[in-house]
Amino acid sequence: MRLSRYFLPVLKETPSEAQIASHRLMLRAGMIKQASAGIYSWLPLGFKVLRKLENIVHEEQVRAGHIPMLMPTLQSAELWKESGRYDAYGPEMLRIRDRHDRDMLYGPTNEEMITDIFRSYVSSYRDLPLTLYHIQWKFRDEVRPRFGVMRGREFFMKDGYNFDLTKEDALHAYNRHLVSYLRTYERMGLQAIPMRADSGPIGGDDTHEFLVLAETGESEVFYDSAVTDIRLGARDIDYDSVDQCQAVMEEFTSLYARTDETHDEARFNEIPEERRRSARGIEVGQIFYFGTKYSEAMGATVQGPDGKSVPVHMGSHGIGVSRLIGAIIEANHDDKGIIWPEGVTPFHVGIVNLKQGDPDTDAACEALYAAITAQGLEPLYDDRNERAGGKFATMDLVGLPWRITVGPRGLKTGVVELTSRRTGESEELNPEEAVRKLAAIYEPYKPALAIA
Ligand SMILES: Nc1ncnc2c1ncn2[C@@H]1O[C@H](COP(=O)(O)OP(=O)(O)OP(=O)(O)O)[C@@H](O)[C@H]1O
Ligand SMILES: [Mg+2]
Repeated sequence: MRLSRYFLPVLKETPSEAQIASHRLMLRAGMIKQASAGIYSWLPLGFKVLRKLENIVHEEQVRAGHIPMLMPTLQSAELWKESGRYDAYGPEMLRIRDRHDRDMLYGPTNEEMITDIFRSYVSSYRDLPLTLYHIQWKFRDEVRPRFGVMRGREFFMKDGYNFDLTKEDALHAYNRHLVSYLRTYERMGLQAIPMRADSGPIGGDDTHEFLVLAETGESEVFYDSAVTDIRLGARDIDYDSVDQCQAVMEEFTSLYARTDETHDEARFNEIPEERRRSARGIEVGQIFYFGTKYSEAMGATVQGPDGKSVPVHMGSHGIGVSRLIGAIIEANHDDKGIIWPEGVTPFHVGIVNLKQGDPDTDAACEALYAAITAQGLEPLYDDRNERAGGKFATMDLVGLPWRITVGPRGLKTGVVELTSRRTGESEELNPEEAVRKLAAIYEPYKPALAIA
C-alpha cells in the first residue's frame, strides 16, 4: 500500500474523550471512528488488524478440530423464551420489534440458536463429538460503554459450542478450548492467564476467564507470580489426546489465579508471600462447561449406544476479538504510539522515502516495495511529499514493527536503514539483505491454514 493512495486519517491532537492509551492510540492512528456510544466504524487500518486477529482465531479453532459457520446477528425472541433467558437477561439485551410485531433481539451470545440448530439435525451419539463456532458481531447494551473497543456495545466475538455425549467428553472439549485459546493469544504476542471465574448469566460450574495483565484492566485479579512463567510455546499438542489436553489444563490452572469474583483469601495466603500478586487484568476470553442446562431446557437430545435418549453435555467458549486489539495495544505501546507484535501487525514494514521526487531514491523505494511484496509481505510505503520528521512520527504512531528508511546519502554507498520499532535500533544493510532479513523475521508468522 502507498500512503498517498491509502485512507489513514491520523489525528495530531489527542482526543479528549479517550481515557486510556489503547483508545487514544486507536483514534489517533485512524483505526476507528465512534459512530455512537460503544459503536465504532472500523477504518481501513483498524479493519486490517481485526481481520488478522479473526484469521488467527479461525486457524487455531480449525486446528483444534472445531467447525466454522455463521449465525445471524438478529435473533427471534422465541428461542430465548424457551431457554428462560429472555426474561433473565435484563437490559443488556437489545430488544427489537419488527413490522409484524414479532419480538426480536440483537444477539448478545448464541447458546439458544446453536442448540436449536443442533436439535434440528442431530439425533444420534454417532454424530458426536461436535464443536461449532462462529465469529460474529454481538450487541450488549452496556450501561457504561468505555475505553473504545474494550467495552463496546457492538463488539466482535468468537463463540464456540461443544456437544458431547458424556461429561468426560465435554470436559475434554473444555480442555481442548483452553489449549487452543492459549495458542491463539500467544500468536498475538499476548500472555493471557486462565483464571478461575464466575459463570454469570451463561450459567454452569466449570469456567475459566483468560486475563491479560494491564493496569487499565477492569477486572481485579489475584495470582501466584509463578503462573506468569508458563508458556505453551511451540509444543505440538494432539487435540484428540485427552491426556495431552488435560495435562496442559492442569499445568496452567493448578497454581492460584482467580478474579475477585472467586477470590479466596485463605487459599491465597497459602502462597509464599513473595509470590502473591494482586493486579488488574483485561478479560479477553472465557470458557464454560455447563452440562445439560440448555439441552434439557430445549430438548437437544441424542440416542445413546443403548438406544436411550439423553440430553447432550455442552459448553460455550468465547474470545473477545475486537477487545483484543485494545488489550494488545495496552500491552504494546510507548509515548510515540503503538508497537504491533509481528503476528498481528496491519502491515509488515513501513518504507520511508526521505527525498520524495528524487529519481534514485524513488526508484530504490519502488524496487524495495516490489521485492518485499514478492516475499508475500505487505509494505506501507510513505510516498507523500512530507518532511522526514512527519513521516517518522506517522510510522511510530501507526506502530509497524519494522521500518526501512531510504535516503540519497545511504544509497550512495548502497545501503538503506532497517529499524526496529520496539528497540529503536537501526542497522544499515543493502536492500537485498534488508528484504531477506524481513522475510526471515516473518517466516514464523505466515498464516497456516485456508479457512472455512
Ligand atoms: N462489551 C464488550 N465489549 C467488547 N468485548 C466484550 C464485551 N463483553 C464481552 N466481551 C468479550 O467477549 C468475551 C466473551 O464474552 P463473555 O460473555 O464471557 O463476556 P463477559 O464475561 O460478560 O465480559 P465482561 O465481564 O467484560 O462484561 C469476553 O471475554 C470479552 O473478551
Ligand atoms: Mg466472561
